[in-house]
Amino acid sequence: MNTLFINGSPKKEGGCSAYIISETLKIMKDETAEHIRPGMGKNLEAACEKVLQAKNICFVFPLYFDSVPSHLLRFMRELEKYAAERKTEERYCYAVVNSGFFESSHNESAIEAVKCFAARAGFKWRFGIGIGGGPFMVESRSMPMNFFVKRPVYGALCRLKDDMENKSGWPENIFVSPAIFRKMYILMAHASWLIQARKNGLKSKDIYRAPEPEKSPSATEGK
Ligand SMILES: Cc1cc2nc3c(=O)[nH]c(=O)nc-3n(C[C@H](O)[C@H](O)[C@H](O)COP(=O)(O)O)c2cc1C
Repeated sequence: MNTLFINGSPKKEGGCSAYIISETLKIMKDETAEHIRPGMGKNLEAACEKVLQAKNICFVFPLYFDSVPSHLLRFMRELEKYAAERKTEERYCYAVVNSGFFESSHNESAIEAVKCFAARAGFKWRFGIGIGGGPFMVESRSMPMNFFVKRPVYGALCRLKDDMENKSGWPENIFVSPAIFRKMYILMAHASWLIQARKNGLKSKDIYRAPEPEKSPSATEGK
C-alpha cells in the first residue's frame, strides 16, 4: 500500500472528512490507496500496524475546539510510540483539517499539532491543508468537486495528490474555503441548525437554552 488516509472524524457516515477522502481517492486513481477510521480505543495496535505499511500517511479530520479530536489524539500518541521503534523506512506525513468556521486559518494550530507528531514519530512532514466551511463541502456533495464554488478545495486536493506521487521541494501549508460569500455560508449554517433542532423535536428558541448554573452551598445557606 502506497497511501493511507486516516479519517479522524467520529462520524460513521456522512462526514466531511469521509467525503474529502473519497474525492481525493477519485483524483488519485491509486488502486493501492486505503483508508481507516481508528475507533475509540479499540484495536489501536492493528491500526498502527496498518499505518506503518504505508509510504504516504494523511490525517483527515475535523477541527474540534481549535485542535485535534481527542480520540484521534489518543491514536496519534499510540502511533507515535509504535512508529518511533521502527524508524527505518521513509514515511511521509500530511494533514487535511476541515472546520465549521468559514475562515480556513482556524485550522493552522491543528496542522501544527500533526507536524509535531510527525517529528516525534519519525515521519517526514510534507504539508497540511486547512479547509474552511467543511459542512458546505459535504452538504453540496451533489455538486462536482471541480464546480467553481468547490474548485479552491479541489485545487488543494490535486496539489496533495501531486505531492504524494512526486515529492519536489518543501511545500507550504494551503488554506482554502469554498468560493461562496461568507454571509451566505453563515445564513445556510443557521438554517441547518434550525432544521436539525426540529428533527430532534426542539423549537428554535431551545437552541439558546443553557444549563442552570449550580447554586453554591454558601448561596443557599441561611435561607
Ligand atoms: C465537539 C466539536 C467541536 C468543534 N470545534 C470547532 C472549532 O473549534 N472550530 C470550528 O471551526 N469548527 C468546530 N467544529 C465543527 C467541525 O469542525 C465541522 O462541523 C466539521 O466539518 C466536521 O467534520 P466531519 O464531518 O468530518 O466530522 C466542532 C464540532 C464539534 C462536534
